[in-house]
Amino acid sequence: MDTSTPKKIMLSGIKPTGDLTLGSYLGAIKNWAERAEQFDCYYFMADLHALTIRNDPALLRRRTLEQLAQYVACGLDPAKNTLFIQSHVHQHAELGWVLNCYTMFGELSRMTQFKDKSAKNADNINGGLFTYPSLMAADILLYQPDYVPVGEDQKQHVELTRDVAQRFNNVYGPTFKVPEPYIPKVGARVMDLLDPHSKMSKSDEVGNGRVLVMEDPASIMKKFKRAVTDSESGAGCVRYDAENKPGVANLMQIYAACTGKSFEEIEREFAEAGYGVFKSAVGEAVVETLRPIREEASRLMADKSYLNELCKTGAEKAGYIANKTLRKVYKKVGLVPRVD
Ligand code: TRP
Repeated sequence: MDTSTPKKIMLSGIKPTGDLTLGSYLGAIKNWAERAEQFDCYYFMADLHALTIRNDPALLRRRTLEQLAQYVACGLDPAKNTLFIQSHVHQHAELGWVLNCYTMFGELSRMTQFKDKSAKNADNINGGLFTYPSLMAADILLYQPDYVPVGEDQKQHVELTRDVAQRFNNVYGPTFKVPEPYIPKVGARVMDLLDPHSKMSKSDEVGNGRVLVMEDPASIMKKFKRAVTDSESGAGCVRYDAENKPGVANLMQIYAACTGKSFEEIEREFAEAGYGVFKSAVGEAVVETLRPIREEASRLMADKSYLNELCKTGAEKAGYIANKTLRKVYKKVGLVPRVD
């Protein structure tokens, strides 16, 4: 008899906007590979969500595939995780509509992301921006996950998803698992190289303080050489003091994450060095950490048949589960089943 309990299910969506930064790699994605040992993981590129703002169609298409290739290159193994493109599984849009009818105008109006985004895009406050959380609830509930790993900014949406799931279950009986938000183990907290008080996360604007996973080595080195430190110099200036030396602390974090060395080891290694030598060493460690990822992502991007196959397999696996939930929902709310 098989006594092993099935793995808990985890699901997350990634919007294909902006490029992956060193910050999101060292802070989060690097740890995702090992999650697959413990959880049954689903990740999708949320291309339908990207439509709430205007996009250049060719760019959106390219970014969706690039982002998928980059996540695979960062260690998300498609054999161990279910990776797919949201629009390839039509059940998302379908359940999204149904859940729109179980999400209240008042609830959607209270979403802080809606308020922020509509303030920023005053000329395009479309219905999709408003009902975005119902589609996100559908993304989640289709797969009956136990956990949804999200950042602070998405917690409110997961709370809403729980409310919608409970409301539906109260009317129709148990249909959806009510998921928990999952606070991921934080990897390195990587800050902007020019402003060590703000986070280096995914972003559309790439300044000199942000390093991209796909960036070429020369450009990475240049950014590290310009990274802010402080006015100390000479022996002993490389030491960990997050409060008084945030620039140096950030560089030490990055170096530690890339090399696996402790802060004490780093202090010893650079005991006699000035910032110039230290910054070049951090730059080189980053270049070497990102090199295999960049090369693998480029190789995958060039291999269209591999990418097509990956998307197809992922969408089939996801679609099978999604369809089971959607059929159940359609039946419960009273839609006539289609007979083929
Ligand atoms: N809204 C998320 C973001 O902006 C992306 C997303 C869409 C998502 N659907 C999801 C995240 C489902 C978790 C689960 O980052």
